[in-house]
Amino acid sequence: MFAPWTPDSWRQLPIKQQPAYPDAAHLARVEHTLAGFPPLVFAGEARELRRQFAEVTHGRAFLLQGGDCAESFAEFSAAKIRDTFKVLLQMAVVMTFAAGCPVVKVGRMAGQFAKPRSGNDETQGAVTLPAYRGDIVNGIGFDEKSRVPDPERLMQAYHQSTASLNLLRAFAQGGFADLHQVHKWNLDFIAGSALADKYHRLADRIDESLGFMRACGLHDLPQLRETSFFTAHEALLLNYEQAFVRRDSLTNDWYDCSAHMLWIGDRTRQLDGAHVEFLRGVGNPIGVKVGPSMDSDELIRLIDVLNPDNDPGRLNLIVRMGAGKVAEHLPRLLQAVQREGKQVLWSCDPMHGNTIKASSGYKTRDFAQVLGEVKDFFQAHQAEGTYAGGIHIEMTGQNVTECIGGSRPVTEDALSDRYHTHCDPRLNADQSLELAFMIAETLKGVRRS
Ligand code: PEP
Ligand code: CO
Repeated sequence: MFAPWTPDSWRQLPIKQQPAYPDAAHLARVEHTLAGFPPLVFAGEARELRRQFAEVTHGRAFLLQGGDCAESFAEFSAAKIRDTFKVLLQMAVVMTFAAGCPVVKVGRMAGQFAKPRSGNDETQGAVTLPAYRGDIVNGIGFDEKSRVPDPERLMQAYHQSTASLNLLRAFAQGGFADLHQVHKWNLDFIAGSALADKYHRLADRIDESLGFMRACGLHDLPQLRETSFFTAHEALLLNYEQAFVRRDSLTNDWYDCSAHMLWIGDRTRQLDGAHVEFLRGVGNPIGVKVGPSMDSDELIRLIDVLNPDNDPGRLNLIVRMGAGKVAEHLPRLLQAVQREGKQVLWSCDPMHGNTIKASSGYKTRDFAQVLGEVKDFFQAHQAEGTYAGGIHIEMTGQNVTECIGGSRPVTEDALSDRYHTHCDPRLNADQSLELAFMIAETLKGVRRS
């Protein structure tokens, strides 16, 4: 059914959501330069993530994936990376401790730049311009010059990704993620809130447990001093991704070394399209977004193409139905996958099916709907006897007002206070922690039964 795969075989197939570069020769030069640059990750790391994904698929761990909707060149600083990393650590420790479940941590970071858009153009008043497609493609400013796709942006995205990844590796392994620092991961701006108190009580119990282990002579365990952290982004801009396809010298297999994990978006998952073709040939763990329009036969065919060996660490189905739609669409998919004996990691993206427009014009999400979709996701799995293995969210460690609701509620009127996202609205630290506590409670119940 398929011609042999090569790193550029996707170029023969129909492709969606790509920019129209005015200067093809310029683009080709940049692709050539990138292909000569060092890769961001190594194949062995991607294989380690596959091993950890398999643990999740088998119900022995939970996947936490989070970060910006779109990283941007303007919002690039050590403090921002650190704060998002802190919140992910907090969420992970809440789930690990409260639910007794290992957590696999993957950031939508160090490469999450390209965005699929609902329209090719954007109109404001009487002016229509090409849509913003993420900083790796064009500028967000609503003027003609900003919106022209510029290949030099691929270089800037690469350099920003390497610097971000370098810092994330240092945070994960250089002492910052040491469990003895668990109190320090709390961010100042949530201090004093009920959630911060709840977090500190949990951190006290972790301290106590560490003290007990020390007294028993169990100290200096590397597992307590450092953590593993992986990166992922949507493999949307295939010109960029192809430049990072390298052959692993150990296995001779191809890997996309721009991130540990890559996923296919809900708008580009066509069976006969370029994105599926590209990702089927690389050895990384991969994700596919699964929205309400996914048909069960189509899903099985996608699984066959992307994971022909039925490897439990290969494929993450990221379900994003929208609150209130999970019960209608997910059971038939769970049943089909189970019936066919397919091994997949099911995770829940409670963000992308829940985007609404506030009366003020801001794109937002209601935190209650986010929680609702996660609950429905767990319930659907419980009913089918399958494992709800993870969560995929858009969040940040910055004190933003982008999603409404939460225990220190962001109101519709407050959206304009600190609305900084370059694309979709993100959960702030409060909302992320609240979600983590809710998941930890649910997971505890699931694991007990
Ligand atoms: C995203 O994850 O940023 C995204 C665009 O999601 P989806 O493909 O599910 O719409
Ligand atoms: Co998004």
